[in-house]
Amino acid sequence: MTSPIRIHATAIVEPGVEIGEGTAVWDGAHLRAGVRVGRHCIIGEKAYLGPGVVLGDLVKVNACAYLCTGVTIEDGCMIAAHTVFTNDLTPRATDPELRGLLDSGPGPRTLRTVVHRGASIGANVTIGPGIELGTFCMVGMGSVVTRDIPAFGLVVGNPARLVGLVDRSGEKVWSSADGKLPADGSIIPCNEDGCLVVTAGRVRWQPAQERGPGDRGPRGIE
Ligand SMILES: CC(C)(COP(=O)(O)OP(=O)(O)OC[C@H]1O[C@@H](n2cnc3c(N)ncnc32)[C@H](O)[C@@H]1OP(=O)(O)O)[C@@H](O)C(=O)NCCC(=O)NCCS
Repeated sequence: MTSPIRIHATAIVEPGVEIGEGTAVWDGAHLRAGVRVGRHCIIGEKAYLGPGVVLGDLVKVNACAYLCTGVTIEDGCMIAAHTVFTNDLTPRATDPELRGLLDSGPGPRTLRTVVHRGASIGANVTIGPGIELGTFCMVGMGSVVTRDIPAFGLVVGNPARLVGLVDRSGEKVWSSADGKLPADGSIIPCNEDGCLVVTAGRVRWQPAQERGPGDRGPRGIE
């Protein structure tokens, strides 16, 4: 049985928008042409999704979020209220002689941003253009993100700095004193389901059942 799509009467859904089953679009939201939204998402009131924005399944976009062209949000992400994405690092309204407005459509200056699976962005965050937000990362409220965020990274501030790692439920499982990831080979316990493992400067989730009997940990960072 499929779930219905609910679109508030005041929402603007332009032609060519695709919306998956079970998704709700609240009052005053605006979905521009070519937007693709997956299944069981919520698009909050007065959110703006620019031309061609792509959302996976189970994504929450809260009120007044601004997602511009070039933004892709993967499955299970949380985009809190008043989050603003950007896609032009050095924007100008007009040509250099101020003769006329520049075209607002996608062009060579349009940079792409990807928010990977399970990531959360807190309220009132600004995301710089051309950024990659790693899987299950978390961005603290009010942050200004100017650099890529590693998977499971917790960042806060302006400019946003790495202050720790979070697990898949969002619990902080490790604190960073210097804005750097734990050393390669570190194992950070999360819960009985698994741990985070750092290899070649990347953080990944390792389910408990994947750890062999000879493996050390998880007992803290090893
Ligand atoms: C980033 C966040 C996850 C940290 O939570 P936490 O681990 O419980 O944080 P703590 O309270 O332990 O704070 C640790 C330190 O970071 C600071 N801090 C916390 N959040 C911060 C933020 N967003 N920006 C800057 N500093 C922050 C705290 O003031 C504290 O500083 P101190 O040690 O000097 O006192 C949380 O504060 C946050 O921003 N959550 C998002 C909330 C949100 O936007 N929800 C949207 C849906 S309602």
